[in-house]
Amino acid sequence: MTKESEHPREIALESRETLGARLYSPSAARNREPIRDVFSKTMPHIGKILEIGGGTGEHGVHLAEGLPETIWHTGDPDPASRASITAWIAEAKLHNLVGPHAIDVTAAAWGVEEEAPFQGIVSLNMIHIAPFEAAKGLFAGAGRLLASGGKLFLYGPFSRDGVHTAPSNEAFDASLKARDTSWGVRDLERDIAPLAQKNALTRVEIVEMPANNLSVVFCKN
Ligand SMILES: C[S@@+](CC[C@H](N)C(=O)[O-])C[C@H]1O[C@@H](n2cnc3c(N)ncnc32)[C@H](O)[C@@H]1O
Repeated sequence: MTKESEHPREIALESRETLGARLYSPSAARNREPIRDVFSKTMPHIGKILEIGGGTGEHGVHLAEGLPETIWHTGDPDPASRASITAWIAEAKLHNLVGPHAIDVTAAAWGVEEEAPFQGIVSLNMIHIAPFEAAKGLFAGAGRLLASGGKLFLYGPFSRDGVHTAPSNEAFDASLKARDTSWGVRDLERDIAPLAQKNALTRVEIVEMPANNLSVVFCKN
């Protein structure tokens, strides 16, 4: 195995091991079980699910494996991430995992419109490591592509009504902004709630996760 951090560009704030094209994320290894647990309790078990910012591909494989009656579409705008997702899909040999699509949520069209409506859209650890336009694009796309009653699942750190939920999240927010002033921990009430309202999504679940993260679920009206 080699270290991805030997490569000049890091999009994931962590050092990832590689095996061929397959990337291994230490954080995905830690959080994939708690995420799958909450995901399976809050999200549809049947129909099409669209994963945004699939990264290494490990979450997509793990979640699609646990939900065999879904058709799991995954994507990422980053070519190295898509190569890793392709390699993980080949390794997993899952009949219900499709992609990766080159989806950038800030684009007006995502290239998967012909597959819509989706019963679920999922974005793990993306909107704080991208400009706020990505959060806007994600909610706009969820408004366009989710079925009525479909769910949007977000996972990551969030502040609540202007207050960080833990000192570690405050420090993480500062480190994100030091890397890129357009990145940062998003606020559920001040940043995200207006996007949900604008795109006909109602927040239905907030679940506290390990390491001061949240799973947040919205339902398309
Ligand atoms: C920190 S990684 C998280 C990967 C994976 N979801 C996880 O939790 O391990 C963030 C991912 O979001 C993707 N991303 C960044 N900007 C995006 C955008 N505008 N649209 C879609 N995905 C984006 C990146 O390419 C990257 O793979």
